[in-house]
Amino acid sequence: MSETIILGIESSCDDTSAAIIKGNQILSNIAANQTIHNEYGGVVPELASRAHQQNIIPVVTKSFSKANIQQNDICAIGFTRGPGLLGSLLVGTSFAKSLAMSLNVPLIEVNHLQAHILAHFIEDANPQPPKFPFLCLTVSGGHTMIVLVKDYFDMEIIGKTIDDAAGEAFDKIGKIFDLDYPAGPIIDKLAKEGNPNAFQFNKPKLENYDYSFSGIKTSVLYFIQKEVNKNPNFIQDNLKDLCASIQKAIIEILMKKLEKAAKDLNITEVAIAGGVSANSALREAMQANHEKLGWNIYIPKFEYTTDNAAMIAMVAKLKYERGEFTDLRITATSKYDL
Ligand code: KG4
Ligand code: ZN
Repeated sequence: MSETIILGIESSCDDTSAAIIKGNQILSNIAANQTIHNEYGGVVPELASRAHQQNIIPVVTKSFSKANIQQNDICAIGFTRGPGLLGSLLVGTSFAKSLAMSLNVPLIEVNHLQAHILAHFIEDANPQPPKFPFLCLTVSGGHTMIVLVKDYFDMEIIGKTIDDAAGEAFDKIGKIFDLDYPAGPIIDKLAKEGNPNAFQFNKPKLENYDYSFSGIKTSVLYFIQKEVNKNPNFIQDNLKDLCASIQKAIIEILMKKLEKAAKDLNITEVAIAGGVSANSALREAMQANHEKLGWNIYIPKFEYTTDNAAMIAMVAKLKYERGEFTDLRITATSKYDL
């Protein structure tokens, strides 16, 4: 039997992406990032959905040509149904529905959060895929949670943020430092040349496996206001040290709960997923726990960390094998539990 070929479409936030998967192998993974939001310091939903409308046809066309696949070769179309910005999701959803109808192939809806986690099963994502049950720290601009993954579609959130997501903390603190949006990758880069022990910030004291990041954001804000009153150039003079210190604090918060969960549940298969899993300090902390605690670690390739359609195509392929198809009357949903 020839391998299934599936088109995946992602449009939940500010990246328009299309990918072709054959079996578990990604043949193309195309993304158009929207730079329009940089000047606003965050994603503007209306602008995002308009940009998706402009990008979707060129991005899908390119995904076919890069993969050297004809439209008639595909067996199904997978798309992100949610969670995300409704106006953005609607563009991908409507496009996927129309194309599925015109090509007469099944439509498969995908949960964006499941996709971040199941990206680990893409053929070139890891030398070996994770073994069930595993823990996955899912950290993005909109979500921060520890997920116990018992099977492909049997996932339990055992801890999550009670306020801001970790990526949101990077982005909002970056804004205090006058950095562009998204600030996460910029902080990561500047932190490489800074002293992570230069400044200390208060860490949350929460029970169980939950997270909180709004307190640290506020403490950075007050600290900066106080210092800038004394020295108007405080941020510029200390930017690298500030970035290194805040990155260290955020990663310590993330890892402490992940370590507690792994210990309590006696699990040594540990993965990270989502945009913040691109962070070099988080990757180093995972590597350190591989050496110190014997964790088998699963760290996504960079192209599978931030929003991408390859992960959507991967989930669609798993659902295709199970015969889980979606009715054409489906609509997008901004909230969508795991
Ligand atoms: O998964 P993603 O692309 O979109 C959401 O589903 O939210 O994640 C985007 C988030 C942004 O907050 C961005 O600042 C953060 O991931 N991010 C990083 C890094 N690369 C992306 N945060 C820290 N370090 C990075 N290298
Ligand atoms: Zn995401």
